[in-house]
Amino acid sequence: MGPTGLVKIRPLSGADLDAALPALARLRIEVFRAYPYLYEGSLAYEESYLQKLARARDAFIVAAETGDGEIVGCATGSGIDDQHAEFSQPLLVAGYDLPTTFYFGESVLLPAYRGKGTGHAFFDAREAHAIAHGYKRACFCAVERPDDHPKRPAGYTPLDAFWQAREYRRLPGVTAHFTWPETAGGSEINHPMAYWLRQF
Ligand SMILES: CC(C)(COP(=O)(O)OP(=O)(O)OC[C@H]1O[C@@H](n2cnc3c(N)ncnc32)[C@H](O)[C@@H]1OP(=O)(O)O)[C@@H](O)C(=O)NCCC(=O)NCCS
Repeated sequence: MGPTGLVKIRPLSGADLDAALPALARLRIEVFRAYPYLYEGSLAYEESYLQKLARARDAFIVAAETGDGEIVGCATGSGIDDQHAEFSQPLLVAGYDLPTTFYFGESVLLPAYRGKGTGHAFFDAREAHAIAHGYKRACFCAVERPDDHPKRPAGYTPLDAFWQAREYRRLPGVTAHFTWPETAGGSEINHPMAYWLRQF
């Protein structure tokens, strides 16, 4: 991908990765509050989630920054066998080799900066990192919502076509389950998530 206009894309590792964790926590809470995730996040949960990510094998974050150095988007990844068992175990049961599988944790970009190629740049950077570290495939999970979900906004477009264009295929019959609250102080709700996978 060429220049993305409004933002600069910066791969982060080591101390730079650690320094970006608070920004990533804020972005996850803000972006995932919207449909289809409807995640009512807390900074306390985010801290433990992101510490786990930062310590995972081959952990990687790519950040989108404005000219002023403000982080307005992030995408993450790591080896899947060092990820939450909720994501690694269904793939293992489906017969995939975990040590050669890279897992994309999330892509989050503030709405004002979307539609300018940053999502593609996030994939490019994470795929390059995974290939450079010898991984044979990459995958990620996406929440499943029924088409008639009451909170689906009018005009909502799923990202499936984007992911297919990036050569990711949905794995039939393989589902992860991950819980998060959808209301402040509310109970943890179990969410089914589909796998999307690409062989390199
Ligand atoms: C995923 C996300 C980071 C993509 O960011 P982006 O910078 O807008 O992506 P791009 O500009 O690179 O566009 C990628 C593709 O998305 C699609 N797209 C872009 N803007 C869109 C819009 N307004 N409506 C529908 N699809 C759109 C297009 O198919 C585009 O592909 P193209 O280049 O062939 O046209 C951003 O949409 C986001 O933060 N979404 C909310 C969080 C989320 O759902 N993350 C994914 C799961 S973790």
